Amino acid sequence: MKWPSHGGQPETMKQLFHMDKEKEILDFSANLNPLGPPPWLKGEIYHSYTTITKYPDPTYSNSHNALADYEMITKDKVLLTNGGAEAIFLVAKLFEGGKALIVQPTFVEYERACEHYHITTEDVFLEESNEFQLPLELILEKMGEADVIFLCRPNNPTGTLVDEKSLHRILEKGLETNTYVVVDEAFVDFLPSTKLSLTSWLPSYRNLVLLRSLTKMFTIPGLRIGYVLANEHVIGKIKSWQLPWSINSFADAVVPKLLADDKYVTRTRNWLGSESSYVLNKLTDLDFYVSESKVNFYLLQDSKRPDDTEELFQYLFKGGILTRHTHNFKGLNGNYLRIAIRSSDENNQLIDKLREWRNR
Ligand SMILES: Cc1ncc(COP(=O)(O)O)c(C=O)c1O
Repeated sequence: MKWPSHGGQPETMKQLFHMDKEKEILDFSANLNPLGPPPWLKGEIYHSYTTITKYPDPTYSNSHNALADYEMITKDKVLLTNGGAEAIFLVAKLFEGGKALIVQPTFVEYERACEHYHITTEDVFLEESNEFQLPLELILEKMGEADVIFLCRPNNPTGTLVDEKSLHRILEKGLETNTYVVVDEAFVDFLPSTKLSLTSWLPSYRNLVLLRSLTKMFTIPGLRIGYVLANEHVIGKIKSWQLPWSINSFADAVVPKLLADDKYVTRTRNWLGSESSYVLNKLTDLDFYVSESKVNFYLLQDSKRPDDTEELFQYLFKGGILTRHTHNFKGLNGNYLRIAIRSSDENNQLIDKLREWRNR
């Protein structure tokens, strides 16, 4: 079976499983904010219609200034990108022909970007037998040979968060071994506190590069907004490689307003906190393993039937619920499902379906 490499593709999945095109599907496979884009966004996009007749400001100065203010960082340490995906590829180019360590299982694009730039990769695995904990000593041991380490925090697909003490050790070691530490914070806004982002660590560690995205929190995968935070030398280099007008004018028009909407982020966090503990507790009560996720998705496996994940996937899909397969997450090999936290009504439908599976 040729599984799609990303979530959020119900139409492709219907074709793969020869399912009626009209069948209604609840999509738990994409890890976006289920509250949808902030309600004001539609009007802003509408009003910025006239901007499409002009080239965007090549330096995106309004958005750039807004990002620097928001992150409380100087402007030479931030670069606006066409989504988190462009950020990953731009940063990977820094290590062209070099060697990377990738903490797996994780987002597949780090590996694709490394392949693209002929970077040799070595994988280190979060320990599945130990709640997907970081193999810190192994990483420290291997860092001497690596130019860069890619780490996703909070991690996609486990939702877990590497602790700060381990990160300090990795960064300190990186300063000794000349290894950059690229931390993808695409989901950091879902954590209960902004303090959990590593932005304030940048002055202490010249080898730290942070990748950010507005896609997940604001449910705007079609707009393509991301950014990189790093030392001025790194930002200068990747900026020189960025394609001209890489960011579209709608995205540029709304960045300052999105960053200013902290009420929307707070509302999301408050909702997520109570909804995710409700869902995860219910699933644990039904004897499903769920990863110790801190964000808006989690890994699930039937603790009583760990070898039947494929069957469970199909059972849910035929019942109108699409989850994310894990065949292309290294180390998971399809043995878990990644499931998003959605609205409380949808989450209850999922819980009912899983109860039905359990009691069959
Ligand atoms: C960890 C991680 N980083 C980056 C991205 C890409 O984000 P964007 O849509 O902003 O390119 C994703 C998308 O799934 C992701 O999961």
